[in-house]
Amino acid sequence: MLSWDDYENNAEEAAVVNDAALQTLNKSEQPATPPQVATPVAPEAPQVMESVEPAPVVTPTVVASEPAPEAPVAVSAEFAGNESRERVTVDQKAMINCRADLNQLVPFKYEWAWQKYLDGCANHWMPQEVNMTADIALWKSEDGLSDDERTIVKRSLGFFSTADSLVANNLVLAIYRLITNPECRQYLLRQAFEEAIHTHAYQYCIESLGMDEGEIFNMYHEVPAVAKKASWALKYTQEINDPTFNTGTLETDKALLKNLIAYYCVLEGIFFYCGFTQILSMGRRNKMTGTSEQFQYILRDESMHVNFGIDVINQIKLENPQLWQTDMQEWARAMVLEGTELEIAYARDTMPRGVLGMNANMMEEYLQFIANRRLAQIGLSEQFPGAKNPFPWMSEIMDLKKEKNFFETRVTDYQTGGALTWD
Ligand SMILES: [Fe+2]
Ligand SMILES: [Fe+2]
Repeated sequence: MLSWDDYENNAEEAAVVNDAALQTLNKSEQPATPPQVATPVAPEAPQVMESVEPAPVVTPTVVASEPAPEAPVAVSAEFAGNESRERVTVDQKAMINCRADLNQLVPFKYEWAWQKYLDGCANHWMPQEVNMTADIALWKSEDGLSDDERTIVKRSLGFFSTADSLVANNLVLAIYRLITNPECRQYLLRQAFEEAIHTHAYQYCIESLGMDEGEIFNMYHEVPAVAKKASWALKYTQEINDPTFNTGTLETDKALLKNLIAYYCVLEGIFFYCGFTQILSMGRRNKMTGTSEQFQYILRDESMHVNFGIDVINQIKLENPQLWQTDMQEWARAMVLEGTELEIAYARDTMPRGVLGMNANMMEEYLQFIANRRLAQIGLSEQFPGAKNPFPWMSEIMDLKKEKNFFETRVTDYQTGGALTWD
């Protein structure tokens, strides 16, 4: 019922967790979007390109000893983003609704996006590099893990093994074509590959431990606490995943912004945190250390995904202030709070008792701490004053400058750098 292809046929079911606050906002949004606000974001936004001079013409007076450069060849507008042959300038570039040639990576407008691409590449890793031997022995031993610990491992792999596919599909099938900036697209391509590596890592753990693959990969259908999170995200993909969808109006630009908030601030920014904390806490107790190490690398990638997404969201707000009025701010706040509630429910479902030195109440405070941070990152006031981080070691794990990993078993900040040879 929740698979990507089937989603549109099950929209009503997928919206099961839509709370009253969002419904109210939904109903009130139309009157809250006066038509005069929409005017500045007409889909064409062609003012920059209209003023561009014609492409330079190569004359036959070029020095005879050098081959005459050919006139620029027109690239299909569908792929170029416009029909101009002009060289792109920085001031023509924009995060959304840009008409400049999207095949020209430089000159950079958003240096931070390119830097994140470089940082992501420098952190490259593969799941097979992690030794799973101890995990396999522990998982197969009868008294190695408690029932509650086993539940946490299975639920985590059940949620994440499909959640990263949801993120990857949303990136590639929905938002990539709508983000009209080449350096950001370069990072999105890197992120998409990282999501593939993450799904690979979960599959690698599931296979290594000899789990029932059908049970694990169907948890996002069959286990309510997992399914509610997946369906919450999918409903924000539904509209912009339509091939006929395009940005360029107030309504559609907002739909894209909501999708970015749903995936970067909530799915990757909140929904991942209970499971990550549980598995990493297990690793701190010298249990399932291979699985924990996989999660540690993934968390490092994910923290960069969240930071990139928040930078994109804030840049869109900056360039399109008409999108960030009171109604949208309240919608965004409601999204973060709804996501926080779903993650707290997941924590209670997976931790009916204290386990691994933590319990659901501690996780609730941690998630409120995270929610405050997400709200602040997109310019909204904190919702849970005084919420503290009961797991400060999680912050250390996300610190990319650490020289060794949490378990001190290997160097974390390596770069893959094998020299190329021809044989
Ligand atoms: Fe991921
Ligand atoms: Fe991610």
